[in-house]
Amino acid sequence: MSDKPVLLIPRKLAADVLDRARATYNVILNDDDHVFDRDELIAACQNADAVLPCHSEHFNADVIAALPDRLKIIANHSVGVDHVDLAAAKARGIVVTNTPDVLSDATAEIAILCMLGAARRGSEGDRMVREGRWNFWSPAFMVGRQVTGRRFGVLGMGRVGQVTADRARGFGMEVHYHNRSRLSPDKEKGAIFHDSVESLLTVSDVLSLHCPTTPDTIGLINARTLDMLPDRAILVNTARGALVDEDALVAALQSGRLFAAGLDVFRTEPGGNPELAKLDNVFMLPHIGSATFETRDAMGFRALDNLDAFFDGGTPGDRLV
Ligand code: DGY
Repeated sequence: MSDKPVLLIPRKLAADVLDRARATYNVILNDDDHVFDRDELIAACQNADAVLPCHSEHFNADVIAALPDRLKIIANHSVGVDHVDLAAAKARGIVVTNTPDVLSDATAEIAILCMLGAARRGSEGDRMVREGRWNFWSPAFMVGRQVTGRRFGVLGMGRVGQVTADRARGFGMEVHYHNRSRLSPDKEKGAIFHDSVESLLTVSDVLSLHCPTTPDTIGLINARTLDMLPDRAILVNTARGALVDEDALVAALQSGRLFAAGLDVFRTEPGGNPELAKLDNVFMLPHIGSATFETRDAMGFRALDNLDAFFDGGTPGDRLV
């Protein structure tokens, strides 16, 4: 073996990303692309100087405590890092990076797909045609909600939230948002700032979630907050399932208080929520917000840029701790 650093890549990445990784690192792969359980992950890390995981690999405090001293950097292939205990990594002197920016366009596309799929009854209609049950048409048939001109609420106006707001403007929607801090006018682009979540909820005909999961945001969308939305609103979630109390969401959808939901993320992944799956007014996707060829390449290259900077003795551009 050469003296290149050893890099563990636990999931199957794009071929050109792997080619670039091999040029600089001795790469350990997970040939069948299964999700490592805790023990497998710890074992696979034992001979590695670095790891390039996805959000499917859980580096909680217990796993981080069992990592070898030689492992110096966790270069995530994701913008979200709720699968890594940052404090535990920091305490062990392990650098953690993510891949911001490069997935904003792809994720915004999926947010808009979720909004339209929910508003216009996309999965209900698709299943009807596909299953040979489409035997009727009338002006009263499959009527949905038009989003054009309605109010689009963005909870978390970071990079993905801002691009999604731009796309919603294309539908003539009026953008409202809540964020920890107000954006500068050039980023705000006329969007209306709300200084509380509650204030945003009361005006959001469509509410799109784009905030990270933190102790403050886990379960933020619950029976109380869903009830603050305008009647027959639409919820879109392309961020993380943990933001939403799914039992409360099922109840709001069943009662018709909420018109529909468009969801790319769930509390249980993979798998989703069987109670949500029973409802016609839910449009669902399997966490594919960033799953385009272009974006997967860009995420992989960005993670490698972070690794290269670290092993060249510099500070990775996307260093979190
Ligand atoms: C992210 O980057 O956080 C996406 O959810 C995919 O992991």
